[in-house]
Amino acid sequence: MRKIILLLAIISLALCQELIVEKVAGQYNSGQKFAKSWQNSQWNDYQDFAIYGWFKIDSSYQIAEWSTGFHFTSNQDKDWTNASAPGDRVLAFWVIGNTLHNPTYSLARGNTNYYENLSFAAGDTNKWAFIYVTHGSSQQAQYVYYLLPSSGVVTKKIASITHKTSTFYQINVGQSFSFKYFPGSFWRLSLIAGPNAYRESGFEQFQNIQPDVVPSCPILFTGCNYSGKGDSLCQSSPSYNVTAVHSIYLPANFTATLHDQANYAGKKIVYSQSIECITQLNWAYLLSTHAITIEDETKTVLRRNNRRN
Ligand SMILES: *[C@@H]1O[C@H](CO)[C@@H](O)[C@H](O)[C@H]1NC(C)=O
Ligand SMILES: *[C@@H]1O[C@H](CO)[C@@H](O)[C@H](O)[C@H]1NC(C)=O
Ligand SMILES: *[C@@H]1O[C@H](CO)[C@@H](O)[C@H](O)[C@H]1NC(C)=O
Ligand SMILES: *[C@@H]1O[C@H](CO)[C@@H](O)[C@H](O)[C@H]1NC(C)=O
Ligand SMILES: *[C@@H]1O[C@H](CO)[C@@H](O)[C@H](O)[C@H]1NC(C)=O
Repeated sequence: MRKIILLLAIISLALCQELIVEKVAGQYNSGQKFAKSWQNSQWNDYQDFAIYGWFKIDSSYQIAEWSTGFHFTSNQDKDWTNASAPGDRVLAFWVIGNTLHNPTYSLARGNTNYYENLSFAAGDTNKWAFIYVTHGSSQQAQYVYYLLPSSGVVTKKIASITHKTSTFYQINVGQSFSFKYFPGSFWRLSLIAGPNAYRESGFEQFQNIQPDVVPSCPILFTGCNYSGKGDSLCQSSPSYNVTAVHSIYLPANFTATLHDQANYAGKKIVYSQSIECITQLNWAYLLSTHAITIEDETKTVLRRNNRRN
């Protein structure tokens, strides 16, 4: 009996601590800024946030002036460009010269622009780097983790950072204020909220799907919205168990066909573009899936053309 109660307690604890994940952007490429805002949302009572994802700085730009990677604010209207109003930088990632800059505000310190500088090397450009920047309310800290291609892991913890709640949030990606565009790209940028958003370790789980792997082959994910465990599959498999697959990332020109019997037999569903969530309806139709056909249309077209010649 006690075991059951303990189990229930653990389960409910796990449910309470569930993260709220917002997929902010699949992608950003230099010059294509965008913003997203939330008013009176599920985040009204939260102070724990994290933003993470892959970025690449293009070395062909001279970053002589401030440029915004992302800028997450809890201030509205003119206050969000008011450097004296606490809240205009909840989490931020800016770049200038060879400096990575993550400013935030702190009520405890009475400072609306608290930051530390980190530098990057020439070898850290033109390749994908990973960032995880977070604020924890009980830790009263901001933690920044970078995985840089040549410099490796670089972290920075700033203590005595306290934030306030807000009924308004906005993230600007690629540009904010009068700053310049971010000279490069973002991939799989995500914003999460909730008690587990803050962390100082365990970043690997957020890095498992690297951008450079993505364009070349389809990836089968165990969760919806390209979350969970990802398995990169470049070729058809006559006996692949995709029962646990709930979303599929397909690079351009790829199709994926799920079959309900081995060796590509039986009923099938063809996907010619990425699918965010494979629904119950699909499963009811297929019952169980035991094979997957991966086709690269470019190569198929090539083969067809060759045959014609
Ligand atoms: C996937 O993400 C989008 C955009 O953030 C959201 O609107 C949608 O509800 C999510 N779908 C699932 C099944 O989680
Ligand atoms: C900026 O914010 C501070 C602090 O909230 C406030 O005193 C000041 O009036 C604001 N300035 C403008 C121009 O709104
Ligand atoms: C951080 O970098 C910025 C931009 O280069 C610079 O203006 C500022 O003085 C630096 N701060 C410190 C403490 O080094
Ligand atoms: C396929 O995967 C599902 C979910 O992980 C599992 O329940 C099932 O037993 C697997 N089937 C086979 C044939 O391995
Ligand atoms: C997809 O195929 C089209 C036409 O065959 C081609 O022009 C395009 O470059 C391909 N895209 C990629 C990403 O391979």
